[in-house]
Amino acid sequence: MITNYLIASPHKEWADALSVQLSNLGLSYDRAFNGKEAQALLHKNNYSITLLDLELKNHSSLEILRYIKLSKLKTVVMFYVPYAGILNEYGMTLGILKRLGIMEVLLPTMTPLAIIKKLRHWSDPNVWRHIPFDPLKREEKEKSLSDDEFTKVNIQEALELGIAAFDHYLRLAPDKYVRVVHQGEPFPVSTIQNYINAGVEYLYFYTSDRLEYINLMNELVRKMIDASPHSDDLIIKSLKSVADKYINEAYTEGIKPSLIEEGKSFCNNVYSLITKDKDLHKKLHDMEYMIPDLFSHSFLVSFYSILISKQIKWVGKKTLESIAIGGLLHDIGLMELPEELRKDSPHHLDNDQKIEWEKHPLLGAKVLQGSPFVNEQVRQIVYQHHEYIDGSGYPNSLTALKIYPLAKIVAVGDGYVNKMTELKVSPRETFKAFLLDRTNILKYEPNHLRALAQSLI
Ligand SMILES: [Fe+2]
Ligand SMILES: [Fe+2]
Repeated sequence: MITNYLIASPHKEWADALSVQLSNLGLSYDRAFNGKEAQALLHKNNYSITLLDLELKNHSSLEILRYIKLSKLKTVVMFYVPYAGILNEYGMTLGILKRLGIMEVLLPTMTPLAIIKKLRHWSDPNVWRHIPFDPLKREEKEKSLSDDEFTKVNIQEALELGIAAFDHYLRLAPDKYVRVVHQGEPFPVSTIQNYINAGVEYLYFYTSDRLEYINLMNELVRKMIDASPHSDDLIIKSLKSVADKYINEAYTEGIKPSLIEEGKSFCNNVYSLITKDKDLHKKLHDMEYMIPDLFSHSFLVSFYSILISKQIKWVGKKTLESIAIGGLLHDIGLMELPEELRKDSPHHLDNDQKIEWEKHPLLGAKVLQGSPFVNEQVRQIVYQHHEYIDGSGYPNSLTALKIYPLAKIVAVGDGYVNKMTELKVSPRETFKAFLLDRTNILKYEPNHLRALAQSLI
């Protein structure tokens, strides 16, 4: 992935301050002082992030934005607003900027470090993971910090990582944390073991580090799969952990280019693992993954959709990646519904609630519509994952030929995983029960059901 930055601003002081911070972190960037220079640089190079000053002259910032939207779609664009009130002068609002595809608006009150944090958030985690993050170093001692800022990670998994890619904390009480491992240091095995013995189940890291965590775990899982013999239990647990954090990040922070890249790595890891171990699906059942929460559900749907796709000849690598990401995100529309309706199946809802619940494919497609980084394949999977070939599905009651082929695969994965969660029996038993329900034979493509059967034999 491309990782450098373009700062296009006539405000020398502001751009200088930011450049110093980037240089200190060893990150590369280019500078442009007017629109013409910015366009020439954009033509020559690929930037992961372009910072456009609203006051850019000689090709305005909006002209540069138009150029980017036509020929440099992959760069994330942030706008710098040099003083309050300038938006009014340009007849702009924050809402208009968002609609134009501006991912962040940088205000004059933001310090260079605050801007660096924004850049980090939208950058390739691979790069940031290896940067000693001194300028953003957090305080040493026990701190009162909000639970909302932290993401938990299984302590055993953290230990497996060896080196801490970022600071890890112990939760002492609600909103009270103490840092136990510093970024870049090895995990102190005996101390961590003592915590485990004392019944500690989780360590915590800043949610702002979550993308780097996903990146790190994907890399670690790849190494574990390559190593032989490998521990399937640990790999599946790690994959599950990646999927949890992935879905959480997508649901709460939105889709970033790096998240799409991590979705592909997740897909490749699952694919390699099921290629290496033909009995893997049995282990999924053993490990109490039947907890019917939305994250486990999405992980399993993605997993089984990959498993089915592996048996289908026309599914190539890129398509498989879309299926995996579509599986992870298929129910993202549920997050748009009131909390009591955010369930993976509508069994326990009354009729009115069910009508609301069935809007989630459309809501999900709308959420993803706003993200230029999600491809059409993923969007269609999300939109059509409840369409069935007999026309009994929603939102459009489409029939066989009209349904997007990849959505049909994820639909089988979804239906099958729901059955597994409902019955809490082995994957094979689930499949038998799934087929005994005659409506399923009518709802799903016979060759997809065959593919699922083959992968469970
Ligand atoms: Fe759904
Ligand atoms: Fe689902």
